Amino acid sequence: MRPVVPAGPAADAAGGRRRTAIILDCDPGHDDALAMLLALARPEVRLLGVTTVAGNATLAHTTRNALAVLTLAGRTDIPVGAGADRPLRRSLQVADHVHGESGLEGAELPVPAIDPWPEGAVELMAHLIGASSEAVTLVPVGPLTNVAMFLDAYPTLAGRIAHICVMGGAIGEGNITPAAEFNIWQDPEAAARVFASGRPVTMIGLDVTHQALFTLADAERLRSLATRTGAVFADLLRYFARFHADRYGWEGSPIHDAVAVAHVLDLGLVETRSARVEVETGDESSRGRTIVELVDPADQERLAPNAEVGVRIDRERFVELLVAAVAAFP
Ligand code: RIB
Ligand code: CA
Repeated sequence: MRPVVPAGPAADAAGGRRRTAIILDCDPGHDDALAMLLALARPEVRLLGVTTVAGNATLAHTTRNALAVLTLAGRTDIPVGAGADRPLRRSLQVADHVHGESGLEGAELPVPAIDPWPEGAVELMAHLIGASSEAVTLVPVGPLTNVAMFLDAYPTLAGRIAHICVMGGAIGEGNITPAAEFNIWQDPEAAARVFASGRPVTMIGLDVTHQALFTLADAERLRSLATRTGAVFADLLRYFARFHADRYGWEGSPIHDAVAVAHVLDLGLVETRSARVEVETGDESSRGRTIVELVDPADQERLAPNAEVGVRIDRERFVELLVAAVAAFP
């Protein structure tokens, strides 16, 4: 029987909500960058560290972008571990058509004031998870290569993972092919490993992230904050919106990765359903498809669910959460 996704943070000794310890694994990426700010700004979570993976851009770019965003936010205390520069078995195909060659085109970012963790992503995950007094929630919002490598390298630490809240996949759509979402498509073998891990997994897929549009008007609210962070993110989101206007005709962008962080905040923004999720690892036409069968509670004896899948989001609350997160930085 699949372990149930844990409820939100229990109360601490003082009766307050204990902060959920998280590691954000990402490929910044415009939406990854906003997910980073959200994780830094909210009292419900404690960001132990950031790990980077090749995906939206090469590893060198995604790592530099993560370091630059932490520098902009004044949070150079957060360790960053650079991970896989390519999928487990396939060649890397970056999303420069969405995020630009650097992975974070559209604004002037600061030169990173910190270097990456010397031992890399998998070792940083092991260090942070091993040293944590409580089980850690992983929030992977890029290809799942690092998480799969960690699970294989440190099987004895898997039990110290409370929850894996993945941005990836979809019930009924694709964005890199008609059949697949980009993160899962990039490394389907890694994704299959994570969904088969036996740890509590939540899949935040396109069905819910495409409901979470951050409009150009919302982006201009960031500029009206009259802060450097507000101006940088207004520019980044204006750039990010280009792809979505061309591709979908939308007046804004889905902030995919921030939905995964928002879910972990446990504020009730995202509705999920139990499901059986299988990942296609076949040829190009179907690679990375997430085959999702929703499972009613009464039916769980016949079909054991292996994940919770996001199906709905309160967009208005989500947008306000993001604006407030950006406003929390100078
Ligand atoms: O398909 C959307 C996902 O792919 C997001 O994580 C975005 O950042 C890209 O990595
Ligand atoms: Ca991403």
